[in-house]
Amino acid sequence: MKIAVIGAGYVGLVTAACFSEFGFQVKCIDRDKGKIKSLKKNIIPIYEPGLIDLVKKNNDSNYLSFSANISDVTDAKVIFIAVGTPTARRGNGEADLKYVYKVCKELSVLLKKGKPKLIITKSTVPVGTGKKIKEKFEQYRNDLIFNKDYYIASNPEFLREGSAIEDFMRPNRVICGVSNETSIEILRELYRPLNLRETPLVFTDLESAELIKYASNAFLAMKISFINEMADLCEKTGGNVQMVAKGMGLDNRIGSKFLHPGPGFGGSCFPKDTRALYNSFKKFKVKNSLVKSTIEFNERRKLQMVSKIKKILGKNIKIKRIAFLGVTFKPNTDDLRESPSLVIIPELIKLGAIVHAHDPAYTKSFPKLKEFKKVKWFKNVFGAIKTSDLLLIHTEWNEYRGLDMNKVKKVLRQPIIFDLRNIFNKNDIQKFGLKYYGIGFK
Ligand SMILES: NC(=O)c1ccc[n+]([C@@H]2O[C@H](COP(=O)([O-])OP(=O)(O)OC[C@H]3O[C@@H](n4cnc5c(N)ncnc54)[C@H](O)[C@@H]3O)[C@@H](O)[C@H]2O)c1
Repeated sequence: MKIAVIGAGYVGLVTAACFSEFGFQVKCIDRDKGKIKSLKKNIIPIYEPGLIDLVKKNNDSNYLSFSANISDVTDAKVIFIAVGTPTARRGNGEADLKYVYKVCKELSVLLKKGKPKLIITKSTVPVGTGKKIKEKFEQYRNDLIFNKDYYIASNPEFLREGSAIEDFMRPNRVICGVSNETSIEILRELYRPLNLRETPLVFTDLESAELIKYASNAFLAMKISFINEMADLCEKTGGNVQMVAKGMGLDNRIGSKFLHPGPGFGGSCFPKDTRALYNSFKKFKVKNSLVKSTIEFNERRKLQMVSKIKKILGKNIKIKRIAFLGVTFKPNTDDLRESPSLVIIPELIKLGAIVHAHDPAYTKSFPKLKEFKKVKWFKNVFGAIKTSDLLLIHTEWNEYRGLDMNKVKKVLRQPIIFDLRNIFNKNDIQKFGLKYYGIGFK
């Protein structure tokens, strides 16, 4: 079966590479000509472990190919839409669907009678979008019959950046929102390679599939905010949030994942998806307080980190140097979208601090961001730490876990560590003569 994937971002590229690895003929299409030019030469525009090998292998064996021309979808029986759905610039946090609808408009002229296509949204889209897409197609082409000349399905993606290939190849479940039997048959064929692992394929209506994606992300975001609030209570009461999280997580009903306190959730999904879900509650006039509080608490959380840093460095934060280790929202990705560092760093600079940053996934695009304009970047982690007054762990990259603490003590101007991810143990660090602060304990 021939597949087309529109959008060669974190989701589209992984989807295309993984389906080609399953033995399908995949065409990955992006309007960004520069990106496509690079991909044709096996140059990957993003940092995602394992992706380069998969792309190279399948590109070289012609299972995977790239194009900047959407009319190259003509051969495909299945078309995935995997373009971005960011928060709309103006509005109340709703998802901006202009990229999705633009693809629909472009696709509509390419559809042919008697050559039905299954159009699947992989992008995260608010409840009701599947129906809206159908209406758009009807508006653009009144000669085509829905569920005959074209079908629409929703197949939200749950991969995590940093472990995207593993997540795609071994998902906990695959959610398929459909409106007829033919779509079910095609989706079963597409995901047959996962049968071996007995991956549950869950078929629902379009609306439920769209809601499952938002509900899952919002629930996980809420779990993070919950443990962050518990961390605050631990700091006041003498409890230790890591022990609390461990004790909670051992309960199978709760589970240990997403119970790690930190500077608040970030990334390309949780912030925008919680906002979009809250917007759906408002749009359909359904009262909601949990998602709303999760969003509000997470916004405050980043500023709370700045207050903590201020407290640690005292009044003299002005002209103090901070070695800021890791700026991405999580390790194993170069994605900076809505990373807490984008709020924390400008606040520190506003207070007069000097930020020396390091990130293993540093790219030339980092210093171009307005939030990082005044940041001094270091290729070597000790370059950033040297003569700093505070070593701050913002992202828990493996590279930082094994830092030589004797050397750290020697090169820091003031021997202080603030570990926003609790990657170190307080007692271990104190043995080196370093002052240690973490999250959620005294
Ligand atoms: N990034 C994640 O971890 C993740 C996980 C699950 C779901 N999602 C969802 O998947 C969707 C895509 O996210 P992403 O992170 O891959 O986005 P991205 O911004 O990395 O990639 C989107 C790509 O689509 C391309 N594009 C936009 N309009 C186009 C058009 N008309 N024709 C062809 N290409 C076009 C862009 O050039 C870009 O390369 C979003 O809805 C997101 O919420 C993302």
